[in-house]
Amino acid sequence: MFYLCRPIFVPKSVSAEKIYILAIESSCDDTSAAVLSNTEVLSNVVATQEIHRQYGGVVPELASRAHQQNIVPVVHQALAKANIDKKQLSAIAFTRGPGLMGSLLVGTSFAKSLALGLGIPLIEVNHMEAHILAHFISDEDTKRPPFPFLGMTISGGHTQIVRVNSYFEMEVLGETLDDAVGEAFDKSAKLMGLPYPGGPLVDKHAREGNPAAYPFPKPKVEGLNFSFSGLKTSILYFLQRETRKNPDFVKEHIDDICASVQHTILEILMDKLKLAVEQTGIKHVAIGGGVAANSGIRARLKEAEASMGWSTYIPKFAYCTDNAAMIGIVGYLKYLENDFSDQSVAAKARFAIGS
Ligand code: KG4
Ligand code: ZN
Repeated sequence: MFYLCRPIFVPKSVSAEKIYILAIESSCDDTSAAVLSNTEVLSNVVATQEIHRQYGGVVPELASRAHQQNIVPVVHQALAKANIDKKQLSAIAFTRGPGLMGSLLVGTSFAKSLALGLGIPLIEVNHMEAHILAHFISDEDTKRPPFPFLGMTISGGHTQIVRVNSYFEMEVLGETLDDAVGEAFDKSAKLMGLPYPGGPLVDKHAREGNPAAYPFPKPKVEGLNFSFSGLKTSILYFLQRETRKNPDFVKEHIDDICASVQHTILEILMDKLKLAVEQTGIKHVAIGGGVAANSGIRARLKEAEASMGWSTYIPKFAYCTDNAAMIGIVGYLKYLENDFSDQSVAAKARFAIGS
């Protein structure tokens, strides 16, 4: 019989055997599936949707259509790479939100159907909590932050500073009021005629340029919230002014412009992190999200270790960008708590941490 209420699951004995979680992520433009054995990643398959490049940003309708095409092969590949049969799975974890509704619906419906078909628990995961808990995926090369720590998620969709007291006790201290930091990179890059996503290219040019060449104003936002839309506007006006004088201005000065833009963005991020450390007294700073790949932010954090006594943590890059392994680690931690969802669970485009 089809049931909508919470089924009673008797979880397998946690100490005696391995827990195998199949995790599914489809919140934006990456279709991803992973298999974890406890905290260890057996596979983490990501199908990045190239179609959005030609539009200079993610087109929601195209994203959900591509998820529909990708989800079955991506899940198959994840199981095959992990060498796990679906009958061995202990539970299915999936991203419930936040994200694009059409994209979330694909992963949510798939996860619900598969869990129902296999008769195993379903575990909903908050994508933002997953970015933070990605630090707890087993990885010999990276250290784990101790509680409490400050988590900063910086990506194309999010900019958030969170106080993390324990796995499931998190408090958002500040977030962006408009654009995400990755968007600030991408939109600035677009103004310079660089292709999408421009963040990595700004980083590349910035390494060759002078960060003090063109000072841009920093936004005046109280507390630990961020704003990046004003920066984009001042870069636009600056470029319009300069190209009126010299049509080749961008081409001739791309390294210095990128270095100056990146410097301003990093100043904004570091100012807020310093304030968060000051306000909380917590000196363990863990970052994640695609922008964590930026060479400038990495250098700034290293510098802060030496100059301010911080301990900083960055997961392996594959666990920074959107991926299902981070959904799987939350799935595992929730499995240990018997924290399961029932078949009535629905995707949630707006889904705050802790709600
Ligand atoms: O986490 P992510 O892969 O995807 C989502 O936000 O969904 O982050 C992608 C973002 C893009 O905005 C991209 O331009 C930015 O991360 N990014 C970078 C760098 N690598 C990726 N921004 C600056 N410097 C980089 N090296
Ligand atoms: Zn993300």
